[in-house]
Amino acid sequence: MAEHSLAVIILAAGQGTRMKSTLPKVLHPIGGRSLIAHVLDTAAGLQPEQVIAVVRHERERVAGAILEHAGATVIVDQDEVPGTGRAVEQALAALPAEFDGTVVVLSGDVPLIDVATLESLVSGHREQGREMTILSAIFENPTGLGRILRDASGAMTGIVEEKDATDTQRKITEINGGIYVFARRSLEAALAQIDTNNAQAEKYLTDAADRILAGGGRVDAVSTRDHWLIAGVNDRVQLSAVGRELNARTVEAHQRAGVTIQDPTTTWIDADVSIDADVVILPNTYLKGATSIASGAEIGPDTTLVDCEVREGARIRRSEVTLAVIGAGAEVGPFSFIRPGTELGNKGKIGAFVEVKNSQVGDGSKVPHLSYIGDTEVGDGSNVGAGTIVANYDGVNKHRTVIGDAVRIGSKNVLIAPVTVEAGAYTAAGTVVRKGVPAGSLAMSVAPQRNIAGWVAENRSGTASAEAAERAEHAKGSVE
Ligand code: UD1
Ligand code: CA
Repeated sequence: MAEHSLAVIILAAGQGTRMKSTLPKVLHPIGGRSLIAHVLDTAAGLQPEQVIAVVRHERERVAGAILEHAGATVIVDQDEVPGTGRAVEQALAALPAEFDGTVVVLSGDVPLIDVATLESLVSGHREQGREMTILSAIFENPTGLGRILRDASGAMTGIVEEKDATDTQRKITEINGGIYVFARRSLEAALAQIDTNNAQAEKYLTDAADRILAGGGRVDAVSTRDHWLIAGVNDRVQLSAVGRELNARTVEAHQRAGVTIQDPTTTWIDADVSIDADVVILPNTYLKGATSIASGAEIGPDTTLVDCEVREGARIRRSEVTLAVIGAGAEVGPFSFIRPGTELGNKGKIGAFVEVKNSQVGDGSKVPHLSYIGDTEVGDGSNVGAGTIVANYDGVNKHRTVIGDAVRIGSKNVLIAPVTVEAGAYTAAGTVVRKGVPAGSLAMSVAPQRNIAGWVAENRSGTASAEAAERAEHAKGSVE
């Protein structure tokens, strides 16, 4: 039982100077989550008894973000002694004294490491009876990274940091990926012997390797071909590279699960998005946050969905939609702007150049062209004419508008909220709806049209209009 217990330590005390940011490095997002949130999720995937995060730089913000994402995480503050060895030493002190199991060490800025790789690293570590297992890789250009030292037989003898390495050691291409599995007791014993006597005056976690070997423990590095698993983020160039790779993996996973994605390079899908099989995603589409898309829907091109629920068979083209529910078989776009709190019913339509905010548009109801609908409830089977605006704001407060079932709002209406148009009512083109319209009534607010004969000839003589009018009169005369 005890030998199968597992704890995870996540290192996140470093400063991240090269990001040149007021935001702590590990809080920069890729795929809609902070770097550290990805690592916390992977740690949780190992189902450990405890996850410990070591913090120091921007302590409050980093610890706050960690606890918000994974409330059971134990936060440990690193003291003024620098180095990865010191960070891990202090984390171990937060483990229960009786914990005699396996410790996985991850970095808050290495976000693509996955559960499967760590599981196989841990099982190899246990099967081989090792005290330390390092995830390594062969890098053509290993500059800046720790090198794995091996003897002539290939057995590991230690790790040397670039800054402490000899010229010969710098030619070694097997690098320390910075992800480790340890036996708790031997790691603790090794760290107690490590000093800061090196080029960076830090307590190096990597020095645990030769200490454990000297004590007769087994140590080895297991190399991965997938370099992205150990890719760290130190600057914004690496942030985008790792973000792009995460996206490529997310897109591919959806494709393998039955989603058609026409252009993976211009499709960006956050890690938390869920997409059913037989959804089609067209180019230049951004699916963000907790968006979910049901089977048969088609999204894009040129569309952004944030925290949306899109139901079966809906179609959304060239639009921006946030915190909205789009009903089954509904149509949105092109060029719709749908803001939080909008619910479009089944087979409803929000069309070209229409903005909708905090409104319900019922089943089969349509707002097809050039409208603003805010704080409004539209029943089922209604139609809102082109160019209609709901005036929901009186300059101080916002008010609601209610439009019943099977209503026909004419073109270019202004509905002055609060106002209700009851079921089955019509409003004429150009109506300014200032008071309620009873069920089945026709509302009109427009003055009757008057034509003043000869006005152009009298007031605009000599213009093209006057001449055209004269020709038209003449033509009529000659026909008669
Ligand atoms: C470390 C390894 C190096 C390896 C590389 C892989 C050591 C001594 N070196 O180097 O062999 O090739 O990772 O990326 O471990 N951190 C703390 N407290 C500290 C210092 C660092 O929590 O006092 C955290 C950082 O926030 C970061 C992680 O530890 O998440 C790694 O630190 P970093 O400074 O990036 O280590 P490297 O020098 O790159
Ligand atoms: Ca680093």
